[in-house]
Parts: sequence; structure tokens; C-alpha cells
Amino acid sequence: MGVLNLKFTLFASFLTLAVAVPQSISPYLVKEEILPPRGWVKSGKPALGHTITLRIGLPQPNFHVLESHLYEISDPDHERYGNHLTKEEVEDLVRPHPDSLDAVNEWLYSAGFAAEEINRSPAHDWVLLTIPVSKAEDILDTTYHVWTHTASGDSLIRSTRYSLPRHLHDHVELVQPTTMFGRTKRERSHIFAPFKAEDEDEDEDEDAAIFSTQTDTSLASGSIDPSCNTTITVSCLLQLYNATGYEALNKSNNSIGITGYLEEYANLQDLQSFYSEQRPDALNSSFNFVSIKDGLNSQNLSEAGEEAGLDVQFAFGISFPVPGTFWSTAGRPPFQTEEGYDENSNEPYQDWLDSLLGSKEIPLVISTSYGDDEQTVPKSYALRVCAGFAQLGARGVSLLFSSGDAGVGDGESDPAKQTCFTNDGTNQTRFRPAFPASCPYVTTVGGTENVNPEVAVSSFFSGGGFSDYFVRPAYQEAAVSTYLSKLPRGLYQGLYDQEGRAFPDVAAQGDRFRIWNKGRAGKIGGTSASSPTFAGFVALLNDARLKTNQPPLGFLNPFLYSKGRAGMNDILDGSNPGCGTPGFNVTTGWDPVTGLGTPDFGKLKEIVI
Ligand SMILES: *[C@@H]1O[C@H](CO)[C@@H](O)[C@H](O)[C@H]1NC(C)=O
Ligand SMILES: *[C@@H]1O[C@H](CO)[C@@H](O)[C@H](O)[C@H]1NC(C)=O
Ligand SMILES: *[C@@H]1O[C@H](CO)[C@@H](O)[C@H](O)[C@H]1NC(C)=O
Ligand SMILES: *[C@@H]1O[C@H](CO)[C@@H](O)[C@H](O)[C@H]1NC(C)=O
Ligand SMILES: *[C@@H]1O[C@H](CO)[C@@H](O)[C@H](O)[C@H]1NC(C)=O
Ligand SMILES: *[C@@H]1O[C@H](CO)[C@@H](O)[C@H](O)[C@H]1NC(C)=O
Ligand SMILES: *[C@@H]1O[C@H](CO)[C@@H](O)[C@H](O)[C@H]1NC(C)=O
Ligand SMILES: *[C@@H]1O[C@H](CO)[C@@H](O)[C@H](O)[C@H]1NC(C)=O
Repeated sequence: MGVLNLKFTLFASFLTLAVAVPQSISPYLVKEEILPPRGWVKSGKPALGHTITLRIGLPQPNFHVLESHLYEISDPDHERYGNHLTKEEVEDLVRPHPDSLDAVNEWLYSAGFAAEEINRSPAHDWVLLTIPVSKAEDILDTTYHVWTHTASGDSLIRSTRYSLPRHLHDHVELVQPTTMFGRTKRERSHIFAPFKAEDEDEDEDEDAAIFSTQTDTSLASGSIDPSCNTTITVSCLLQLYNATGYEALNKSNNSIGITGYLEEYANLQDLQSFYSEQRPDALNSSFNFVSIKDGLNSQNLSEAGEEAGLDVQFAFGISFPVPGTFWSTAGRPPFQTEEGYDENSNEPYQDWLDSLLGSKEIPLVISTSYGDDEQTVPKSYALRVCAGFAQLGARGVSLLFSSGDAGVGDGESDPAKQTCFTNDGTNQTRFRPAFPASCPYVTTVGGTENVNPEVAVSSFFSGGGFSDYFVRPAYQEAAVSTYLSKLPRGLYQGLYDQEGRAFPDVAAQGDRFRIWNKGRAGKIGGTSASSPTFAGFVALLNDARLKTNQPPLGFLNPFLYSKGRAGMNDILDGSNPGCGTPGFNVTTGWDPVTGLGTPDFGKLKEIVI
């Protein structure tokens, strides 16, 4: 069942229940139960006094109304196109029913919590409690254990089952961390394209050839410097995507943001080295740093993150001088479980979302190069995080996510270990979509390489496929069913859900990006490079919109799959193998490897203004 159906069901059952809220505490019934996920073993009890931050999600009975607003204001053929909602309008649409708020409050007060121990999100749709594990065990009638991921040694404090008083089942959608066994990854290939610092003895002439393109006007218009076939620079991307010479303005009503997780720090010295080499006019400019949950901003050069460096250097390099923001969000599973570490977290996306949804001003374009296997994020939690992305879209924000670096596979770098088993103990083989890439309210970016012709990346494989959690949204129905109708009958039957939300939506270069890290230049790749690249061009498109007094593009997909298609370069070659299969093929039109293709900024600009 997909998101639309599920939300409808919740709403319907809610209406019948809202009439009678039992005042006394009813018996506990199991709310959620999972089989121990593959690869994790129970390895003991958490240390005494260990604390945990519980997130209790209350139903959002009017989410379907928010969703219909989102689709109308994002559809370029609709009269409401661009009429984005305010923070208050969005909060009103996701606010829980008062009976749910009362029922949860009554439960927590009767369990002995004081009002000031209970934190809430701005719309009161989440309740947050930081409490000892033993207390969480009491109120959820569960037992937490330390679980260890045998392959990596990562540990989590989790349970495989929790319960709630029966009368609360319709007033609480989910409680986490309980059953979530995700391991958030940077979407960068760990095998094929690690950061390779340049050999110090390397011939300097090669660099000279590469960077002379910055000001080289001798190239015939439309042709691309051949060096871009081996090294990607900002200049290459501007040439390839038809934006050379476009001048954006530094206007406070335009903006672009980059998310940072997993202790990835964006180093300013590396950024200046990069600018000095690839974007001299941006030299001395910086970005706005925002800490979430006490995320750090280490400027110690030896702690400079490759991912963070790649993301800020290219996103801000392409979109300069559009004002940039970098968020450093702390907290992640897997978490240390030893004494001294006193918290065990969820996937950090919701913490980041809480912070943004609580802000009046949000950057107009945001790129994220991190993800999880969809199946390791409990469905109820994935639906809620995805619903949070819809709220940002309704406020006019374009969200870009990397599609993953393992084709249809599981991201395991060693092909011998790439088992593609389902996580539910049944050991079925199944393709492995990524989350948040699979969320229908975000724009997912796959990877390409080479110029003339630009093809799907082959040094790692562009993540793509079909969600097992989210049904296919209407905006991509025609494009995806056309693709499916061309597949050999019965191909990959049982390995993916033909009705699922298909991704990626678009693509951009993803390999051989020349960045600066820890004071040295080198090359790096992954759909981690593709997402900030695409985001940079969206920021330039917003610049063109704002200059003509039009609202920003907001949620992109309804536009991209309709009017925007004419401004995309269709990619015609490549595939995305994984799970011991050749994966899907790139075709004319949309495909689950490179989506609708890569951006032609010049053409897209003509379409959006
Ligand atoms: C780029 O490299 C690819 C693969 O090596 C090759 O097929 C293609 O002809 C090259 N393109 C240019 C313009 O050199
Ligand atoms: C950057 O700052 C340096 C030192 O203050 C200055 O010499 C240089 O002209 C500046 N560059 C730009 C592009 O502003
Ligand atoms: C910088 O970071 C490295 C690695 O974490 C550490 O060893 C070093 O002490 C740090 N330097 C300073 C000045 O903090
Ligand atoms: C934009 O302008 C502001 C105010 O003049 C300045 O502080 C900021 O550094 C500029 N940003 C960029 C990216 O040039
Ligand atoms: C699934 O695979 C694991 C490890 O290979 C094995 O221990 C388990 O018994 C299998 N379960 C089923 C239901 O086949
Ligand atoms: C953006 O700012 C510019 C200049 O500050 C202004 O002319 C324009 O009207 C603004 N656009 C919007 C949509 O607010
Ligand atoms: C991909 O193309 C190859 C060669 O044309 C073909 O044999 C294969 O069936 C295609 N696979 C899919 C998933 O379309
Ligand atoms: C680049 O964009 C311009 C419009 O700005 C368009 O006329 C031209 O065809 C585009 N060039 C290519 C190679 O797509």
C-alpha cells in the first residue's frame, strides 16, 4: 500500500475514532513488530542509565489536503502555480486532531512526565522525550537490546516490538527509535571513486590544460572542452549544461543550501583553494553555517569532509553569487553504546526537518547526498519523513537527493556480498531502492559521465528503480508506464514493484569531479556529485525567475515531467547493474537510470521565464 492509500485509511479510521476517546488507560497491544533484520545480532543490554530520545509521531489527518495543495502549486499548467504556502498555513495542515494531542498528553502525564520534559515540533505533530532506556521500556512495554551489525561492527539500541495502550493506537502513528535498523550512508561509491589526492609529482601541465578552459573563448559555441571527458570542473559543467556566461545576482531573496551529516565538515580553506582554481570571481566569498542539534563546524583542515567539500564546492561554485547555507546536523545511528555515550538517535533527517520547518526563511534549493536502504527505514517513519519533505515543497523549496551509487543493488561494495536479501527474515531476493531517493516529494538525481556523448556512469552505477513503500505519483505515470511497456514481459518479476514510485527523476555528471580536500586537489565521484550539481543549476533558474518577479520553482517534479522535459538532454546509453542482474537500461525518454536526463540550463531558462 502506498502513501496516498495509507493516508486516506488513517483519515477514515480517525474520523470514526475521534468521537470516543477512552479516558482511562486501556490494555497494551502490540503497535509494531518486526523480525530481527538480516545482518544484526543481539549483543547485550544497554548500560544502566543510558538515555534515548523517543520521537512520538501523531497522525496528520489533513495531510492529503496539504498534498493536493502541493501538486496544484507545483503544476506549471495550474492557475495556482507558484502560490507557495506560508509556514503557518503548512503547520495548520499537518496539525494533529485535538483528541490525539489530549490522548497522548494524558498518557504521558499519567506515566509521570512533567509538561516541561515534553518537547514538541512547531505543528505539534511530533513529541520528543529524552529519557532513560528503562523508562522507555516501561511506557512502550518493550525491552531494548544492543544490536550489532556483524559486517561493520556498528551498534544500535533497538527493540523488535513495542506496544501502546489500545486507545492510543489511532492517536499515535509511530514511535522511534524502536524498530529502525538503518545505517545512513554518504551516496558515494566506496570502491570505484574514492578521493584520490593528486600525485605530488604529477605533471603540472595537465592542470594548466584543464583550467585554461575557464577563460578560453576560442572554443566553438556549443562544443565542450575535451578535458571534461577526464576531469570535471565548474567550467565543464557550465559548458556542458549550457550556462556559460550566465550572470546570477547576489540577492537575498535567492538561496541554496547543502546538508551535512555524519560529521562531515565543510572547510573554508579548501573552498578558497577550489575557488582560486575553478571560480576566481568567487574568491573570498563564503556561506552561512547553521548548526542543528549542536552539529559542529570544525575548520581543522585534517577534519575536512570529502562529501561536504564536494557538495559545497560544486553547488556554490556553479551558483555563485547566490547566497549559500551549509547545515551540520549531529546525531546518527549507528551510535556508540558504551558508557559515556548517553544517547541513541534516529536517522537525522527528521531533526533537520524540525529545524527547517520551524524557520521562517528556508533556502530555495537544497541538496542532500546521503541515504539509506529503503527497507532499513521502517515504513511508518519513511512516510513521515517524506511527508516532511512535502511540507518544505509546499513552502516553495526544491529538494534534490542523490539516487544512490549501487545501481539496483544494495550498496555493498563487495559484489560477492551484494546479496540483495530482504531485511525481514524471509531472505527473498529483491532490488534495493534508496530512501529518501524514493520519496515522491523530492527530486532524485542519478549519475552520468563523459561528454559527446554523455552516458550513464559506469565506474559506479547510478541508483535507480522502484520504491517498495511509495506508490507511483501521477506526475510520472505517463513517463514510467511508457518505459515499463518497453521491458521484456515478466523481466525481474518479484524483484521490484512495478506500481512503485520510480526514480531517479533527472541526472547530472557524477564522476571525476576535481575538488580540494585537506589542502590537496583530487578527484571524487558518486551521485553525491550529481545532486549538488543539479541543485546549482536550479539555483540559477530561480535567479532567472526572481529577476523577472516570479516565484521560485519550488517542488520540481510536476514541472520536470511536463513543460521541463523539453529543456532536458535525454541520455541514451548505459545501465545500472546490481543484485547479480544487468539492471535497467537507459532508453529514449525517461528510464530508471538517468531519469529524464541532464539539464540544459539555456533551454530551461527560456521555459521558466
Ligand atoms: C570521452 O570518453 C569516451 C570514453 O572513453 C569516448 O568514447 C568519447 O569519444 C570521449 N569523448 C570525447 C569528446 O573525447
Ligand atoms: C580576495 O582577498 C584578497 C586579500 O584580501 C584580495 O587580494 C583579492 O583581491 C580578493 N579577491 C577577490 C576576487 O575579491
Ligand atoms: C586537527 O584534527 C586532527 C585529527 O582529528 C587532530 O589530530 C589534531 O589535533 C587537530 N588539531 C587541532 C589544532 O585541533
Ligand atoms: C552577497 O552580498 C552580501 C552583502 O553584500 C555579502 O555579505 C555576501 O558575502 C555576498 N555573497 C556572495 C556569495 O557573494
Ligand atoms: C536467512 O539467511 C540466514 C543467514 O544466511 C539464515 O540464518 C536463516 O535461517 C535464513 N532464514 C530463512 C527463513 O531462510
Ligand atoms: C527579489 O529581489 C529583487 C531585488 O532585491 C526584487 O527586485 C525582486 O522583486 C524580488 N523578487 C521576489 C519574487 O521577491
Ligand atoms: C537491455 O539491453 C540488452 C541489450 O539490448 C537486452 O538484452 C536486455 O534485455 C535489456 N534489458 C532491459 C532490462 O531492458
Ligand atoms: C543553449 O540555450 C539556448 C537558449 O538560451 C538555446 O537557444 C540553445 O539551443 C542551447 N544550446 C544547446 C546546445 O542546447
